[in-house]
Amino acid sequence: MPSAQGPSAVQLGSLLISPPLINSSCPWASSLAQLTELYECPYTGAVTIRTSTPHGFQEDSSHSHTLFGESSINSYGFSPVSVGQYLIWIEMIHDMSTKRKPWLISIGGPETDLEYCFEHISCLLSRRPDIPIGIELNLSCPNIPSHPPPAYSGLELAAICELVSSWKERQKGITVGIKIPPYTHSGMYDTLFSALLGAAAGTIDYVAATNTLGNSILPSSIDTTLPSGKGEGPVFMGGMAGSALHPLSLGVVRNLRTRLREQEYNGGHLRNIKIIGIGGVSDREGFERMRYVGADVVAVATALGREGVDVFQKVLEGQISKDGK
Ligand SMILES: Cc1cc2nc3c(=O)[nH]c(=O)nc-3n(C[C@H](O)[C@H](O)[C@H](O)COP(=O)(O)O)c2cc1C
Repeated sequence: MPSAQGPSAVQLGSLLISPPLINSSCPWASSLAQLTELYECPYTGAVTIRTSTPHGFQEDSSHSHTLFGESSINSYGFSPVSVGQYLIWIEMIHDMSTKRKPWLISIGGPETDLEYCFEHISCLLSRRPDIPIGIELNLSCPNIPSHPPPAYSGLELAAICELVSSWKERQKGITVGIKIPPYTHSGMYDTLFSALLGAAAGTIDYVAATNTLGNSILPSSIDTTLPSGKGEGPVFMGGMAGSALHPLSLGVVRNLRTRLREQEYNGGHLRNIKIIGIGGVSDREGFERMRYVGADVVAVATALGREGVDVFQKVLEGQISKDGK
């Protein structure tokens, strides 16, 4: 069990996350068995599901992932499992378990799809207000050809804030976070903060940073026998994550924290926004670095895929006990 001296609980909107370590949305948080294992793990403070949509994303052989060293590249879109199916599983897991930890329902796609997912979640919450559920808007998947990450666009961010504000009127107290891609210059933060400041106080409860870095290619898949610039043959392109992303994610979390602090001094409109730090965390040192730069909660994806749920004990305690308990 997590030790008494471990990091303390964090309040994310109406949800209490204890310990402040969770899985990040990914294919290793997708099936009923995986979600049950994550829920039962004493070292996760909440469970985030793989990004869901109204009818499930049509996956084919072009959607895949590869692990290299402690990093990863993936070309997945969203989960093939629909939001409705996930909600059925969540209710089942909640009812079969003695644990009581929050669920973060990651959803993605155009506004009409987000609205559909919200209606489903809202329906479950009116029937089962005892299940602690928050919504995470995935505004950052780099692998949807017709839908670039909305969190790079000021107009899209403003529209999302308006949508969330209407949800908060209809579902009082619901926790809503947004997941952003890696930002690489100050103009991107200006865009995000202008949207956040344009929304009513309390619209967004947390920012999850970061998703993968799009348009990355795994070096070993490049055909080096071809002359440079003549095409590389079949290359595996997608979003990069894991240790290769760690420094950039730390930078994003640090910048978010700095800007949120500035807002606090300037009147506190965004005072309660929390940060989930994600990117390349696989051990206690990585967890501490994320918290040091300003993350309230830390999340893990690639290392979960590589090591399984045991990684959470290693991240929290720096070791895994022999009996795995
Ligand atoms: C194979 C794979 C699939 C992913 N799928 C999703 C997803 O469906 N939704 C999402 O918000 N993030 C997704 N991510 C991004 C992760 O949640 C995380 O933000 C990113 O990988 C950085 O964390 P990491 O370095 O611990 O992997 C995925 C990452 C990987 C590696």
